[in-house]
Amino acid sequence: MQVQHIAVIGAGTMGSGIAQVLAQSGFNVTLLDTTQDLAEKGLDKIKSSLEKMVEKGKIDKATAMEALARIRCGSDLNLAARAELVIEAIFEEIGAKRDLFRKLDEICPPGVILASNTSSLSITEMGAATKRPEQVIGMHFFNPVPVMQLVEIIRGQRTSETTVESVKELALALGKKPIVVTESPGFVVNRLLIPMINEAIFLLQEGVASAADIDTAMMAGANHPMGPLALADLIGLDVCLAIMETLYRELGEAKYRPAPLLRKMVRAGYLGRKTGRGFYEYSTSK
Ligand code: CAA
Repeated sequence: MQVQHIAVIGAGTMGSGIAQVLAQSGFNVTLLDTTQDLAEKGLDKIKSSLEKMVEKGKIDKATAMEALARIRCGSDLNLAARAELVIEAIFEEIGAKRDLFRKLDEICPPGVILASNTSSLSITEMGAATKRPEQVIGMHFFNPVPVMQLVEIIRGQRTSETTVESVKELALALGKKPIVVTESPGFVVNRLLIPMINEAIFLLQEGVASAADIDTAMMAGANHPMGPLALADLIGLDVCLAIMETLYRELGEAKYRPAPLLRKMVRAGYLGRKTGRGFYEYSTSK
């Protein structure tokens, strides 16, 4: 099936980033969230990201306007029925994702690929909630989506090779670098990256060094573009905790135990940039 129209479910940081990249690559996009207000907030994020790109001279105003015109937003899941491919980017909770995949399976015509941007949950489990597990796949983007090149394509236990190839083609059409991963908790990047961030939180908790010094260490000593604690704030501490919990639960090894400080920060509502406070403080506009 020739894909021209893609529905993105979830208009948060990742969903809006994915919608932006799709629209910039010429796809028509339906961006959906649970309320019109949330969907429009996602659209606002896209507008300001495109405006920044125009200011920096990366794209011209007309191109930005054209991309924006390709995006419709709304709160009615039935609007996904018109899409030829769906990308789910809601919060990391398997029950909610299973429920969504079951509904999408009823709404979308047979053959439509249902992809998940999950950062560590089981694609096989999402596929099992549908009657089309062969067309259920992981399509994992990285934050900030317009900048980061990688897309991890996750093959669940019953995902077909045709589905893998179609999604790989889509990632290439977006100018991204796809890698194909056999389903395993955290896939490749988060299996490596999030335990490193968790270890940085243990260092902070143990008073080994300050947050700024831990970050400086990894930037100046390992050439990372940003330190692990600043990166945790960018990703969202709730997302980091959810990934550590998945790794710990699924792989069952003590080395994946979430740092108690991470859990405490999440309980306090210090989720990073999106709430204005994490390991650092941010003005609300960031
Ligand atoms: N939209 C469009 N462009 C953006 C952007 C956005 N949201 N955010 C940043 N950019 C662009 C900037 O315009 C800038 O472009 P130019 O260099 O061409 O001017 C470029 O990205 C660099 O941005 P800045 O100059 O503002 O800041 P920086 O040099 O400090 O880079 C960064 C910021 C790109 C975030 C960089 O620090 C970085 O790469 N950090 C690591 C990010 C990372 O590891 N992401 C993966 C997280 S893991 C994940 O997402 C998966 C998961 O499941 C948890």
